[in-house]
Amino acid sequence: MQEPLVGASVWEQTLFDHLTSHEENERELLVEYQQAAGESQSPAFRYLAALIVEDEMRHHRLLGEMAESLRLDAEMHPGEPAVPRLGGWGPDPHRVAELSDRLVQHEEMDLQFLKRLRKEMDTIKDTTMWPLLVKLMELDTTKHMEILNFVRRQSKRALS
Ligand SMILES: [Fe+2]
Ligand SMILES: [Fe+2]
Repeated sequence: MQEPLVGASVWEQTLFDHLTSHEENERELLVEYQQAAGESQSPAFRYLAALIVEDEMRHHRLLGEMAESLRLDAEMHPGEPAVPRLGGWGPDPHRVAELSDRLVQHEEMDLQFLKRLRKEMDTIKDTTMWPLLVKLMELDTTKHMEILNFVRRQSKRALS
């Protein structure tokens, strides 16, 4: 269990507790996947479990970074939190907005390409995991668009 925050408000402490207890759950799940990835006799399962491990490690890291950033603010420590504040998007938010506009278009093209690629793999869908891997990339692309749309919205807000 994590040390409670010093001088935090109720909502900060509640959020902190949820972040750290969820991080704990994620860690247990991560260990289970790592064992599965390491021990299974099936190379196919080991490969796929290793992909999940990568994601779970990131979840674990993000939850930890949010909790530490919350501690920094709640306890009024100086310095930059691990999760940066949005802070006006630097000296040139216009540039950030432009860049994210452009990148989201790339991601849209990428998504169309991946969908076509997956269709071409129809004949091997029961003998390989390739269509699954392409499908996962499509989901990642959707995620990247979510990130970029957030940046677009927020950086344009900073401009107005
Ligand atoms: Fe997770
Ligand atoms: Fe992408």
